[in-house]
Amino acid sequence: MREVVATRYVTPLREGGSLPGIVEADDLGTYVMKFTGAGQGRKTLVAEVVCGELGRRLGLRVPELVTMQLDPVIGLAEPDQEVQELLKASGGLNLGMDYLPGSLGFDPLAYQVDPAEAGKIVWFDALINNVDRSWRNPNMLVWHGDLWLIDHGATMIWHHNWPGAQASAAKPYNASDHVLAPFGPDIEAAAAELAPLVTEELLTEVAAEVPDEWLAGEPGFATTDLLRRAYVEPLLARAGSIHERISIGEPTKTQPSRAPGWLAERLAPRPNPADEDRAARADTGRNGEGSGR
Ligand SMILES: Nc1ncnc2c1ncn2[C@@H]1O[C@H](COP(=O)(O)OP(=O)(O)OP(=O)(O)O)[C@@H](O)[C@H]1O
Ligand SMILES: [Mg+2]
Repeated sequence: MREVVATRYVTPLREGGSLPGIVEADDLGTYVMKFTGAGQGRKTLVAEVVCGELGRRLGLRVPELVTMQLDPVIGLAEPDQEVQELLKASGGLNLGMDYLPGSLGFDPLAYQVDPAEAGKIVWFDALINNVDRSWRNPNMLVWHGDLWLIDHGATMIWHHNWPGAQASAAKPYNASDHVLAPFGPDIEAAAAELAPLVTEELLTEVAAEVPDEWLAGEPGFATTDLLRRAYVEPLLARAGSIHERISIGEPTKTQPSRAPGWLAERLAPRPNPADEDRAARADTGRNGEGSGR
């Protein structure tokens, strides 16, 4: 990955659970920046790199990822307290994703995906245990007529519990809620094409892209290279046969998310400050004398 230096904090992206921001860099590029100081911590960034770089090497469209040096001083003029805190906590190396200007969030009612492409994406998400490409939160953009994959922070759930990683990585993948499930994904064809590409060499190359400072100090791993190796093994083991364990049933439209706590928080819609303002004003209107604030 290239490394750039953040030069200007432009604006927060309110729809993102981790409060990513749009940031300009010294290469004159504009990036969506994900911060090391965000609540979910650096493992989210590790997952973005491993899976984003893997996806691109498998021929899926993933915007370029870069590492971004951040001097929190660039956020000093930022009026939002939450953003100030985040920037202060994120000095050093952060993650940037090339910003796709004018892209639209994927809408399954407005955009057709053919079974071959849907199959590749569902198979890839099964490989990386992505629970965050559902109809609730598609995490795909449409740009110049093509589908682009973003947000691989909630993947490889097993890297939150290394002792159980191999066993967890053997588990099936339920794609019933996947946003591409209704498009008849051709999973057999995707597996035949993509699984042979997921070699030890490729996974080692992808793991090598993760900066040392996001890996250092992981309990149970004496060196960052041992930790990198720990990412390679479950993915390699999973690639060969995961297609046999992908199930697509009825979407659980009315059920609450069964994601673990930290993830459920990511999946929950963020309250929109503009809506709260509107609600407060409406309330003021009804009471006639304001809320006292
Ligand atoms: N490369 C990009 N180009 C344009 N817009 C983007 C890009 N990446 C993200 N966005 C926009 O920012 C939003 C939040 O990004 P992302 O999903 O990566 O953040 P997140 O904090 O992990 O979000 P969440 O957990 O809520 O899904 C996206 O839904 C999309 O609208
Ligand atoms: Mg997202």
